[in-house]
Amino acid sequence: MCGIVGYVGKRRATDICVAGLRRLEYRGYDSAGVAVIGPDGQLKLTRVVGKLDNLDKELSANPLEGGLGIGHTRWATHGKPSVQNSHPHLSCDGRIAVVHNGIIENYQELRAELEAEGHVFRSQTDTEVMSHLVEKYYQQSEGKAADLRAAVVEAVHRLRGAFAFGIIAADSPGQLVAVRRRSPLVVGIGEGENYIASDMPAIRSETDRVYVIDDDEVALITEDSIELTDLNLQPITKDVYVIPWPADAAGKGEHKHFMHKEIHEQPDAIYACLAGRLTSPDEPVKLEGLNLTEDEIKRIRKVVFTACGTAYHSGVVGRFVMEKLAKIPSEADLAPELRSRSPIVLEDTLVIAVTQSGETMDTLLALRDMREKGAKVISVVNVVDSTIARESDGVVYIQAGPEIGVASTKAYTLQILTIELIALYFAEVRGAAPAEELRAMKEALLACPQHAEELLKREDSIIAIARKYYDLRRDQWAKHGVVIDNGDQRAAEKGWWSTTFRRDAMRPNSLYLARGVNLASAMEGALKLKEISYIHAEGYSAGEMKHGPIALVEPSLFTVAIAVDGEVKDQMVANIMEIKARSGPVIAVATDGDTQIESTGVDPNASPEDVASQPNDMIWIPRCPELVSPILVAIPLQLLAYHMADLRGEHIDQPRNLAKTVTVE
Ligand code: F6R
Repeated sequence: MCGIVGYVGKRRATDICVAGLRRLEYRGYDSAGVAVIGPDGQLKLTRVVGKLDNLDKELSANPLEGGLGIGHTRWATHGKPSVQNSHPHLSCDGRIAVVHNGIIENYQELRAELEAEGHVFRSQTDTEVMSHLVEKYYQQSEGKAADLRAAVVEAVHRLRGAFAFGIIAADSPGQLVAVRRRSPLVVGIGEGENYIASDMPAIRSETDRVYVIDDDEVALITEDSIELTDLNLQPITKDVYVIPWPADAAGKGEHKHFMHKEIHEQPDAIYACLAGRLTSPDEPVKLEGLNLTEDEIKRIRKVVFTACGTAYHSGVVGRFVMEKLAKIPSEADLAPELRSRSPIVLEDTLVIAVTQSGETMDTLLALRDMREKGAKVISVVNVVDSTIARESDGVVYIQAGPEIGVASTKAYTLQILTIELIALYFAEVRGAAPAEELRAMKEALLACPQHAEELLKREDSIIAIARKYYDLRRDQWAKHGVVIDNGDQRAAEKGWWSTTFRRDAMRPNSLYLARGVNLASAMEGALKLKEISYIHAEGYSAGEMKHGPIALVEPSLFTVAIAVDGEVKDQMVANIMEIKARSGPVIAVATDGDTQIESTGVDPNASPEDVASQPNDMIWIPRCPELVSPILVAIPLQLLAYHMADLRGEHIDQPRNLAKTVTVE
């Protein structure tokens, strides 16, 4: 969500801050700002509503000189997006500036206290209490200059909640103070210059050496020193973390969008995730970081997967695979629901938290609740050293590299792969499944990189399907002589539709149906489509279709039916027939070589205009065991969503209202 970048050195701070914030744009934001201490010792501020381009324009017109600065992109929580509410926030005298990620829970009582003391607030944000608190404690004493770090620490002692702060003061030239609690923060190490950032990609092009700051640690940073202390100002030492991915990993390369690039990275990413863990179908799975003894694994009585959004869908696959392979009763719970339900935790329950960012607040809070109740928690995480990784008893990294597109793609397939490896490992330790079954699973997982490659080669066939469906309703109107698009002057002149209404009203609707282990694929396929194309999509159990959703079926609602080879295929065939019988168009996902599905439900006697008379549109996936199929099914469904959104001209990497990392409840 929000992003922080700070700089101290000899270059113009705003250049570094804005460039860093650009690399965090994918996380979503609605306003931005920078504050700088100028060569004249004055603190200067520029803030804008909207995109960083607006900030760039302001800064080109009125450059802010100075080598000490902090920048921020804000995603509104307290108070609407406005210049007043955007960061940095200043003290009353305008000589202290603060940027903040997170939420200050007790800000109302602190604000009342500070206002009673005469502080004047200019925004509705929780953050502003920090600039006034630091101002309150930033006092000269016994002839000594005011100490910014000491004031920050004193202020932090008053706060409840989650925060990462970057703070500068005109009267402490050359000093940047940063501190965190439950919100990510790194200090980048340069030569004659140093940086802070909420996320490593923001400063990766400047340095690959960082300190990952832990809760309640404070950094006092100048251009040639970094002092790390705890909140009692006792020095701490910490290892330098070397960022393992290259500086250009956060670029789009030849792809139009990050999402497209990340979909195409999947063959290599799957290969990298398997490397060292599964090398041959005849070797046992090796997993580092689980931190569970064989005895503990044998004693597990229940597994609870918990996560949000796409990561939850990989948990839905996980519960299935864990029961089938390791024979451990398993469930998957949405993290906020798990907390609300406050479940009874049996002895020897293992919670598996799944998260790309490792910072999702709901998942973090569910993890903490479950640990408090006595469960052991391991996590499946992408971002190394993230809060969830660090608060878990064990962590298995999916090793996807940075995922920039807001819609999760490669992280999803790698989450499933990692969970399948964990299930296989448990099955081996517990002797829970016949060796032949495990061998077949391993063979299929080892074939995944090559199968993923093959699926990407079939992208043109997905584009053809996307073209057919992305504007299905408009196309259907056109057959009746009504052209509904931006060129439809007649409709506009008559005032039938405003441009926005016309586009929204004419989106098709869709249903994604599946059963068994691919129920997650239907839910995930639908989520991908709705979040980036804004086409309404429901992911549903096909077994539930007759209990409600079938009422929606008609020619302008297309159904993606996942009918790959496996135990539930025959039932899916029956569902496809029911949809076709009601003139619903079907896109079927089936296994290579299936000769039945394309013509399933086709009625040769129906009129040629009736969808029922036409063959189903086909998405083919390579043959694999049913338990592995969700990894492969995901890839063409990601492409389908991507191309529909692209044809509709949407902002694919930053869909409206969404943020990459959801650090609020
Ligand atoms: C959808 C998407 C989200 C995330 C969810 C959890 O494409 O990306 O649904 O999966 O916000 O995020 P993480 O995995 O970071 O916990």
